Amino acid sequence: MFLLLVLELTDDSNKKKPVVVIVIVSISIVSGMFIVGWIIWFDLVTVAAATNNFSYASKIGEGGFGPVYKGVLETGQEVAVKRLSKSSGQGLEEFKNEVILIAKLQHRNLVRLLGCCIQGEERMLIYEYMPNKSLDYFIFDQTRSTLLPWHKRFDIIMGIARGLLYLHQDSRLRIIHRDLKTSNILLDREMNSKISDFGIARIFGGDQSEARTKRVIGTYGYMSPEYAIDGKFSVKSDVFSFGTLVLEIVNGKKNRGFNHADHDHNLLGHAWLQWKEDKVLELVDAAMEDSYVVSQVMKCIQVGLLCVQKYPEDRPIMSSVVVMLSNESVTLPQPKQPGFFTERSSRDTDLLSRKEKGCTENPVTITVCTMIINFVEEWQRTLTLVSSHSGGR
Ligand SMILES: Nc1ncnc2c1ncn2[C@@H]1O[C@H](COP(=O)(O)OP(=O)(O)OP(=O)(O)O)[C@@H](O)[C@H]1O
Ligand SMILES: [Mg+2]
Repeated sequence: MFLLLVLELTDDSNKKKPVVVIVIVSISIVSGMFIVGWIIWFDLVTVAAATNNFSYASKIGEGGFGPVYKGVLETGQEVAVKRLSKSSGQGLEEFKNEVILIAKLQHRNLVRLLGCCIQGEERMLIYEYMPNKSLDYFIFDQTRSTLLPWHKRFDIIMGIARGLLYLHQDSRLRIIHRDLKTSNILLDREMNSKISDFGIARIFGGDQSEARTKRVIGTYGYMSPEYAIDGKFSVKSDVFSFGTLVLEIVNGKKNRGFNHADHDHNLLGHAWLQWKEDKVLELVDAAMEDSYVVSQVMKCIQVGLLCVQKYPEDRPIMSSVVVMLSNESVTLPQPKQPGFFTERSSRDTDLLSRKEKGCTENPVTITVCTMIINFVEEWQRTLTLVSSHSGGR
């Protein structure tokens, strides 16, 4: 492709004469400029320099996909570098295409993917840096949770809802997040919520376009029953995770590992019991003191419960969620029983919390997790048998 540029230049006699300048620009440069507008391809030297050679001091966290580093580019821009720990098995071209597609997604409630770095087997994703870390850092901490009064929490909920609506409906890609949870909600300087790690599931899951997957990527406590058990994912499985997030934001406790003196239900089960007994305001996190607006909190709890209903067809889609949350006058339907409404035995809770670090934070298959749990249980049973035998002798 050639470009013809017509420039108006002024000559010595000060008379304006059009001077035609033919600029030959190859298509690769033009398209390169467009791509640069969306995404930057970083080289390893730049990323290493930005992160002090991936120093321990630069490390800000580690998730299932590998370590995350804070970096400062030469321009002074702060970035977060996610060093993907293993290859997805995807070809290089496919990886690049996915990254370009995902980098094109832009919304004020999504963390911007700035670019990536590829060298050999190494794949890194470079994001805009979020100075206030993630939501879990605040809401599950007794002291820091006081920094989030109700109006902030409500803004955070609305932000997540709008970001998710964009992923599901408004963007051209129609992305199902599949791992929506508090550590994937990042907070900017003004504590605005931004969803992160959207598209990571696309990059990693070879069979991500199918509605049923053998490779379940997700975290216990946020996964809908049909996804956790059957591997079936849809926008409605994300809606379930969103509902869990909403109830966690209101209550300040994790769904998973939630405990109560009167029962062994998780937070969703507890919220359902409170709902049935007309005592939902007891769910409100004490750290918010009196900062909350009763009607708003009650609405959020009801929407949360609608989103975590057991059957996907009963759950609302995100556009309805946004309407319900942002309109005072909308009458909401009555929620039905949530998914996983069974009491856990204290032994299950104990075993699961011991497994939490090893399994749930990683995108390993549930099958593998289940195998490990079964193995540990089997091992414990064997030990008990052996000790009771030797004790009896
Ligand atoms: N863009 C970012 N800016 C600032 N901190 C970030 C950014 N991305 C991630 N982090 C921090 O790095 C930590 C690890 O993130 P990462 O996404 O790898 O793991 P995770 O969210 O805990 O689990 P998962 O792998 O399932 O997403 C998080 O605690 C988060 O606070
Ligand atoms: Mg994450």
